[in-house]
Amino acid sequence: MELTRRQLGMLLGAGAATAVAPALPALPALSSTRAAPSLLPPGMSWQLLWSPSAAVDGMRAWETIEDDRAGSHPAGRPHIVPAGDDYRFTMHMVDRDSSTDRQRQEVTGNRTGSGYLQWRLGELWRVTYSMYIPATLKATTTFTHVFQTKMPGTGTSPITVTSLRRVNGAQTIEHKVFEPNILVGRTDLAPLHNRWIDVDYEIRIGDGGAGGVRWVVRNGGATVVDATRTGVDTFLGDRVRPKWGIYRSLGDASGSLQDCHLLLTRLRAYKAVPGGGTATRYEAENGKISQGAVESDHAGFTGAGFVNTDNAAGAYVEFTVRESGPRTLRIRYANGTTADRPMRITVNGAAVATRSYTGTGAWTSWATDSFPVTLPAGPSAVRLTATTANGCPNLDHIEVA
Ligand code: GCU
Ligand code: CA
Repeated sequence: MELTRRQLGMLLGAGAATAVAPALPALPALSSTRAAPSLLPPGMSWQLLWSPSAAVDGMRAWETIEDDRAGSHPAGRPHIVPAGDDYRFTMHMVDRDSSTDRQRQEVTGNRTGSGYLQWRLGELWRVTYSMYIPATLKATTTFTHVFQTKMPGTGTSPITVTSLRRVNGAQTIEHKVFEPNILVGRTDLAPLHNRWIDVDYEIRIGDGGAGGVRWVVRNGGATVVDATRTGVDTFLGDRVRPKWGIYRSLGDASGSLQDCHLLLTRLRAYKAVPGGGTATRYEAENGKISQGAVESDHAGFTGAGFVNTDNAAGAYVEFTVRESGPRTLRIRYANGTTADRPMRITVNGAAVATRSYTGTGAWTSWATDSFPVTLPAGPSAVRLTATTANGCPNLDHIEVA
């Protein structure tokens, strides 16, 4: 019998619970796992509060940096660097953490211009990011974490972890509530190696059974995991911080350890806030187009079509928007090539950002780029202008939220 990926995942999940941790306590009665939409309740919306660019913000994106904090391999420093618009974490076999049975190159938190984001009890937070796990960064029989949530300070266990784990020999990526070892979701790692995957993660910070997590992994637009777990404890005693990088045990028994690295980009953090849900959409085909045409030959657009600009620097689409104040600008686009198609975004002629629009895999795969803008009072001209000879990506719409 041919098993579906989902059935296989369930079997692997069941196997793991016994093979990896035989002494699991019973799951809390309130707990439930289901594929579900966002944890965001009605009447709330996501406020984008952090969207660092490695190229622009560099290592200022983080609250803390643990680059070989034990000083085990000075010649290898820095192990964590901005590389173009990615963050690169390099792990060498000789690297050792303060406990020498493990290795750690990690960054923590969300630093902004004015401090850092504080995730507190009772709040709902979301982080999204793209992650590249090369085949050299393999799943192991002991822990290999690539993402954690923790409370500040040392000496406490993680709250939640995303790990690369061997389950009955197979490489998987999983997400767990660390105590008491509650599996949220798991999928095969091999198909996700050597490519950019997209993670969408939500955590409700709740004590006792008041917490919840949602973990979504997408591979080239296809959702490979969408798992939600509520009724869990996601609070230890202080605020919560996200943590990215490579933190792994040297106790692996599968021969999987080698020099490796991890890449991250397009990191975003959002907080759930009351109200909102009032995003205004402006279709590109209704905008002012310079050097381009409205077309509809690639499916998946909203409205009547999308704008295909000429492949020329200076081509643009301009929108007249009515909103003012601090806002989130969302740009929906597709780029069926592998070359970046950066655009400069101006408001009333003043540049507010130049952003990357890298390949989305196909002209029919639409992606959304979100970033904060502050709009002046009155109608404003928001213009997206191609900065290279490749022109703009195909543009579907913008939203002001
Ligand atoms: C193709 C595609 C267009 C796209 C163009 C480009 O022609 O069909 O939709 O705009 O490539 O490279 O810009
Ligand atoms: Ca074009």
